[in-house]
Amino acid sequence: KILILDFGSQVTQLIARRVREAHVYSEVHPCDVTDDWVRAYAADGKLKGVILSGSHASVYEETTDKAPQAVFELGVPVLGICYGMQTMAHQLGGKVEGGHKREFGFAAVRARGHTELLRDIQDYATPEGHGMLNVWMSHGDKVVEMPPGFKLMASTESCPIAGMADEARKFYAIQFHAEVTHTVQGRAILERFVLGICKAQPDWVMRDHIAEAVEAIRKQVGGEEVILGLSGGVDSSVAAALIHRAIGDQLTCVFVDHGLLRLNEGDMVMDMFAGKLHAKVVRVDASDLFLGKLAGVSDPEAKRKIIGGLFVDVFKAEAAKVKETHSRTVAWLAQGTIYPDVIESGGAKSKKAVTIKSHHNVGGLPEQLGLKLLEPLRDLFKDEVRELGVALGLPPEMVYRHPFPGPGLGVRILGEVKREYADLLRRADDIFIQELRNFRDEATGKSWYDLTSQAFTVFLPVKSVGVMGDGRTYDYVVALRAVQTSDFMTADWAELPYALLKKVSSRIINEVRGINRVTYDVSSKPPATIEWE
Ligand code: XMP
Repeated sequence: KILILDFGSQVTQLIARRVREAHVYSEVHPCDVTDDWVRAYAADGKLKGVILSGSHASVYEETTDKAPQAVFELGVPVLGICYGMQTMAHQLGGKVEGGHKREFGFAAVRARGHTELLRDIQDYATPEGHGMLNVWMSHGDKVVEMPPGFKLMASTESCPIAGMADEARKFYAIQFHAEVTHTVQGRAILERFVLGICKAQPDWVMRDHIAEAVEAIRKQVGGEEVILGLSGGVDSSVAAALIHRAIGDQLTCVFVDHGLLRLNEGDMVMDMFAGKLHAKVVRVDASDLFLGKLAGVSDPEAKRKIIGGLFVDVFKAEAAKVKETHSRTVAWLAQGTIYPDVIESGGAKSKKAVTIKSHHNVGGLPEQLGLKLLEPLRDLFKDEVRELGVALGLPPEMVYRHPFPGPGLGVRILGEVKREYADLLRRADDIFIQELRNFRDEATGKSWYDLTSQAFTVFLPVKSVGVMGDGRTYDYVVALRAVQTSDFMTADWAELPYALLKKVSSRIINEVRGINRVTYDVSSKPPATIEWE
């Protein structure tokens, strides 16, 4: 195994992720563990190497954190990244200077390929034959004098010591961030470290994660009971399946149907969790309540507030009921928080990460309910959560679903939400999604559902004129929306084949009485957003 000591960088979990991608088991622990802890951790002989993470950029100048000195006395390879390099230099007798101009962003590093870590790894060579790496840097301080025994491994113009190595002791350090994808060869470098230098066994698979996570959940929860808000989305579903695997009937899922879900979604969730997994699921049909409170409200943000607020109220009431009726103590609230949520809300594991934005709509809920928080997915990235879901036996269609907003169809019905509109929209949207799954792109063989990042139908509460048979119709309009994006911050509208659009349009107009016109949204984000509200 590999030990990653976290100095509070926003991207520490990316190091863990790269190690997992090399199929090696790793654990992230805070940098302030004691020397004794480190020695005990290594006592079973399974520890193959240590990685010292970066620190958060804005706290460089103030931080005095050090790695436990024992790390350098274990006889295993150590890799320092960014702040990890500086503390390694400092602790082993080199010199670090602060107060320099901050270097932030891309840099071209001259890589000295004579070290084991960087041998044959380069993006391109200069005319003089020097290997070069395109990397991502973010630092203010830098190493100005290497500790005894180290040789130069990498340099940039403004940072002459951008990498150093003591190959006798297998200590390596790089000033740039190898864990981020902007560093093109980063994955190769980290793989070289864990496989080539540490000689860790590449035998870790997602299935092993289940065993580890199950063990951890059992230990954490003991004999107490857990409740979880199941939404049918990927994260809460995978969390539910994992926790159920660990503690079975000690888990109660509460599924609040706000009446703004997709066609048959509620039944599918029940069928999967109650039916196939035999989990305890309480289904709350709260559509009257939600639609009642939404009547007459047309402002998008007001609608979001109502839906979010009611959701919390209904969930709280149900959770209280579950607490009352259970013989054992209900002590935990489980959530499908994943790592990107943790970063966004500034709660990265080592108390040190700096808050960027607090966005959790469930913030405060555990305290109000008097429950402790159980978040078994908080170290995983979205694609890892999906892989875990499949390994847990959830159907790939569920796990690889497009994201669906919390307020559901509430923000896809423009203006006031009515049951009639939601019913029409559900049926139209279902046809669109079915055909996206049916149509395959010839070049790639993939369905258009898989080729788009998010696709849905929007209900426009305006009527337009049409003809059907001998009669004139005067019915509602829907817009189809399909986008491609990697981060949902920017997005392009998808160039769906005309044959697909034609099929969807004719099916919706023929099968959904009440809709007589279908349009396709050809707006990119920015300036448009993905949703219409
Ligand atoms: P926009 O429309 O801002 O959407 O381009 C970006 C992504 O965020 C989703 N989204 C939401 N998700 N509650 C959610 O849980 C919301 O209120 C909400 N609004 C937008 C949207 O579906 C897209 O994936």
